[in-house]
Amino acid sequence: MREGELTFTFNRRLVAYKQGDTISAALWRNDIKIITRSLKFHRPRGLYCGNGDCPNCLANVDGVPNVRTCTTLAENGMQVTMQNKFLSTRIDPITVIDHIFPRGVNYHHRFIRPRFMTGVYQGIIRRMTGIGKLPTMIFEAKPTKRIVIDALIIGEEPQSMKIARTLADENLKIMIVKNKIGYTLTHQNDEETNSILSSADSIEHDLSERKNVKIIWKTNAIGAFDDGTIGISSKDRLYICKSKIISLSEKGREQPIRFVNWELPGIIQRHAALDLISQNIRLGKRVVVAGEPNHAKALGELMLSKGINVTAIIYRSSSVDLNNKDKLSDISKIGWRIKAAIGRNELRKIIIANDSKQMILPCDCLVTCGPAAPNIDLAKQLGCGIETDRKSFPIVTVNGDFETMKGGVFAVGSVCGLRSRRESWEAASTAGKAVTERLRRMGT
Ligand code: FES
Repeated sequence: MREGELTFTFNRRLVAYKQGDTISAALWRNDIKIITRSLKFHRPRGLYCGNGDCPNCLANVDGVPNVRTCTTLAENGMQVTMQNKFLSTRIDPITVIDHIFPRGVNYHHRFIRPRFMTGVYQGIIRRMTGIGKLPTMIFEAKPTKRIVIDALIIGEEPQSMKIARTLADENLKIMIVKNKIGYTLTHQNDEETNSILSSADSIEHDLSERKNVKIIWKTNAIGAFDDGTIGISSKDRLYICKSKIISLSEKGREQPIRFVNWELPGIIQRHAALDLISQNIRLGKRVVVAGEPNHAKALGELMLSKGINVTAIIYRSSSVDLNNKDKLSDISKIGWRIKAAIGRNELRKIIIANDSKQMILPCDCLVTCGPAAPNIDLAKQLGCGIETDRKSFPIVTVNGDFETMKGGVFAVGSVCGLRSRRESWEAASTAGKAVTERLRRMGT
């Protein structure tokens, strides 16, 4: 380690990181891919969604168990420890269960005889289950701050900034909750998207300097109370926020693409890959991209433009529009699907197949681009009406002004079924006006 370098420890090993790295990104930067082990079989697990939506990156951080390392920024001197491991990080004897019971273990049927062994079985099972260990010390609770505002804007999609600006121009008191800072990296290489993202960037910059606007980055709305107040957990405090208007524009959740061993460390979702790329972290020596044609193609283009060694792009669908002169056409595999990932602790190769044959591709990083499902959790808690869209995903029901069935709660974007950025961006103008009008009617 060089003098002045930022470091934390992972299982007592010193790890160098760069400002802005999350813990899991810093580990990836240092070629450490196993962060935890799965609950039952102790299979190796590591960075996967990069979005706080899965259990694959949980670790003990400074004595606190089950911290999501993909959404927690690395800090100098932090102590990060792996959970659920037995013996060493890379060798865990409990994984033999996988070989003894290749079809899985059903505790309810398997460990019931002979009866006199029940207590012994229970003791072993209790030791093997549960995530992390309870801390032995008492931590101080985060201070709580109660706030009353005119509008609470929740979500990291660009349209939330456009709505916020309309309200800020009316001199209303608003708070924006966003888990990212800025929109600068896009995997959509089209001009329209780039222009929307850069407009959102400059609005965000402008709003951050206004007195009537508070932006909390890198944070999440954690839930709604029965009276409609929202709990917001930031790094150093818990906000309990009472707002006349709530606007929801949360990003959709990427769905996993499933195949044998689909959670092996080295396999990550698009969002996690974009985070690593934006921090200039090398994804791998041989990278394969697979999934939804539009996303896989755009991500492949972005990676090639950044000099990443993409060895294959796998499209399950045969309806992919590729130009023969396109750099991607040489490495594209159209009509293929992934059958399995291979590797003892980390990804080493994948097996892909089409209708007539199969082949093995060596790779140490596979990025999957699954379809995104709308994130409707908060809307459900707030009591908004839910319906299903044409892809059978649940979405929030809204009227022409993007107001939900729960008065005072607005939803704009994938959360209400808008699939393109342009649609959502345009909808933000309508919603912004409607929110202002509603607040006027409420006498604000
Ligand atoms: S929650 Fe961190 S990788 Fe999924």
